[in-house]
Formats: sequence, structure tokens, C-alpha cells
Amino acid sequence: MKFIVQGGLNKTGLKGSIRVPGDKSISHRSIMFGSLAEGTSHISGFLEGEDSLNTLRAFQAMGVSIEGPSAGKVTIEGVGMHGLKPPAQALDLGNSGTSMRLLAGLLAGQKFDVELSGDASLSKRPMKRVTDPLTEMGAVVATAEGGKPPLKITGNQTLKGINYQMPMASAQVKSCCLLAGMYAQGKTCVTEPAITRDHTERMLEAFGCDVDVSDSMACVTGPAKLMAADIDVPGDISSAAFFMVGASIADDSDIVLEHVGINPTRTGVINILKLMGADISCSNHQEVGGEPVVDLRIRSAKLKGIHIPEGLVPLAIDEFPIIFVAAACAEGQTIVTGAEELRVKESDRIQVMADGLKALGVDARATEDGMIIKGGEIGAGTVHSHDDHRIAMAFAMASLCSNGDIHIEDCDNVNTSFPGFAELAASCGLSIQVVNE
Ligand code: S3P
Repeated sequence: MKFIVQGGLNKTGLKGSIRVPGDKSISHRSIMFGSLAEGTSHISGFLEGEDSLNTLRAFQAMGVSIEGPSAGKVTIEGVGMHGLKPPAQALDLGNSGTSMRLLAGLLAGQKFDVELSGDASLSKRPMKRVTDPLTEMGAVVATAEGGKPPLKITGNQTLKGINYQMPMASAQVKSCCLLAGMYAQGKTCVTEPAITRDHTERMLEAFGCDVDVSDSMACVTGPAKLMAADIDVPGDISSAAFFMVGASIADDSDIVLEHVGINPTRTGVINILKLMGADISCSNHQEVGGEPVVDLRIRSAKLKGIHIPEGLVPLAIDEFPIIFVAAACAEGQTIVTGAEELRVKESDRIQVMADGLKALGVDARATEDGMIIKGGEIGAGTVHSHDDHRIAMAFAMASLCSNGDIHIEDCDNVNTSFPGFAELAASCGLSIQVVNE
């Protein structure tokens, strides 16, 4: 699938009131914890994207009865901490790094052996970051050469709690350790070098499992158990981010994004865009399933380049493709540093974005840990998403400040996190054509 987005003058901005699909991180966790809980859990607002569906299918393959999703509703008959059954074959987790890293932790504590595999992109991503702490806990997990998937987990091990100092800021690694910690003897504590998303900690509490959180440390004590809970998944701020930037860079925009999760460990993108001069306001504050939720209103604004504070980087880690687009449309220079984790996402997001921006005539220079972008006009051209959903959607929004059409190749994976993206974007004013090749 390919997107063709129309640039050039005479565009109207993004308008209307829309709801983006459910949060991917929260959707994954709702299936995992609902499956291991005692009792029936009801989920609403579940993201029906390929990544979270791969988590759902994995638990079905391990004998959990899961109904749905149907219009975002899922019902899970929890089997308890020790009720999973060995799957008949390897669990294929597609493009989803979150599924693989969190499941590695959960499955390290089971009585059976299991293999976790993924698509070409996931098969290149680093897993040593999870197998190292799991091995320290007593788990037996083999990888392919270079610490890459597939992961082969040998079950029936006795896990022990550890104190783990994470070498990188990663919510997936933190969550993996905490989930294995629920099966371990004693206390497992993870210390993070910078704050990362805390959906695991919040949702474990909602499922009745105590998590001690202090500053940069989170601890669970095993053996733990979970009780069924009902979870209302808010809109994904990472999906909302495309519209935040699109509306900011297009003239004459005024858009409302309803029911977006603004967990403080995820709001880096709002803070970064505000520092760049964006006009973003929040209303209708609510607390939903332990997560803060608002409606966001974004109007056109003249953005300016900034040096993005490094402390905000982990809080906006998935939003850099679209932040780079904002920088390309801003006046002056934007410098991103401390973002080397972008090189090991669904694609190398530093290189792929720099190449794409350069193909569109933007002065963008990739650095080891970020990028230097001189803002100005974006030109016409063809870019490749390298099968990375967020790269595809970022370049689609770039057309709102480009002087010609942009062709974006390899857009199928948009369905991993944002099914219906093109239709929703078109409904509020983006000129986007989907070409099935
Ligand atoms: C996620 C954590 C982040 C993020 C990913 C989802 C999660 O990954 O990039 O899309 O749900 O825990 P890292 O933990 O590798 O930074």
C-alpha cells in the first residue's frame, strides 16, 4: 500500500472533532493482565491494530477464551497466573516489539517451553536488553545470533527477584522485569535512568497487584496474583500526535482530538510542541482506569526551532518521526540529542527520517543520537517508510506544509497502530490517496 498526499498551496487546514484509536501500550497490557487475572475482565476502547491483535492472538493460542474485539470491546475469561496452556506452535508477534519483550518476562515464569518470533523488522531488533535481566533472575532464554529473535524460552525454572539498574530508558524492559518478578521468589526492583511510561505499574495496581513506586524505581513482590478489572482504553497520544503536528503546521486549522490519554510519562510531545510555539489546549479532564484523559484542541501556529531538552526525549520517544516533520516546517534550527533509542525502533528512525526529509529537499543531518534540522519549506518527492507505521504517517502529515505532492511507499504497517488513519485524516481535511499495489 502506498499513500499519495497532495501538497501545494490553497490547502485548508485540519478541521473537526475526531477520536483517534485506543492506546497501543494500554491495549497490550489489558490483554496480558486480563488473561492472567482471576475472573472476567471487560475492555473497551481496545486498539484493533495488528500489534495489539497479535498479543490477543498469542493468549488465545495459550488457551485463554477472549471474545472480540468488536467495536473496541473485548471480554477476557482470565485463567489465573498459572492457567496458560503451552501453545501448539511458536507465537508469531508480527511487528510488535512490546508483545515480544513483555511476553518474554511473563512466559519466563511458566511451566512450559515457548518460542516467540516476529516479522523481518522485529527479527532485527535487540532482545539482549530483556534476556540479560531475565537470565539474572534464573530464566532460560535463548536468542538467535546477536541477541535477536526468535526467543526460545525453556520453562519450569525457579525465578528469583533481582535489583536491576536498566542501562537504557525502556518501558518495555522495565515491564518485562516486573512481569517476570510476579513469578519470582521475593522482590524485583527496576531502576530507570530516565522516566519511562508507567502503564504497567498503573494497570497492575488496577488488577490488584501492589507495585511500590518511588522516584525512578518500581518493585513487585512475587509470587503475585491478579484479580479481573474493567479497563477503558483512552485514545493513543502517539496517534493523536500526527494530528497535533498536522494542525499546527497547516494554515487555518482548528481541530479537537477527543478522549486522549495524557499520562505524564507520555506527554513529551505536547511539551515539545508547546516549546516550539504550538497552540494546544486541554479541556474535559477525566480519570479513566487510573489514566488521565482530556480533549485536546489544536490551532495553527507559527512553529520555531528549538534544542529539545533531553529529559523530554523518553517521554516522547514514539513521536519523533512527526516531531522531525514539525521541525522541518519550523523557523530556524531544531536539534535533537540523547535519542539514540530511535535507531532500534521499527526502523532506524533517525536515518530513515533524515533520508526522507532530504529527499524532500529539507536540510536534515542525522547524528549518532539525534538530528539537526534547518526548518523551512518541504518539497515534493518520494519517500520510503521502511515498513514503519509512524514514518508513513509522519510523511503523510508533512504534505500540509509541502509545496508539492509526496509519495510514501510501504504503508501497510500503518495498520499496526492506526487502522483507518487515511480515512480519518481525510475526514478532517488531509488530501490523501491510498494506492493498493
Ligand atoms: C512501549 C515502550 C516504548 C515504545 C513502544 C511501546 C511500551 O518502547 O517505543 O512503542 O508499551 O512499553 P521502549 O521501551 O523500547 O522505549
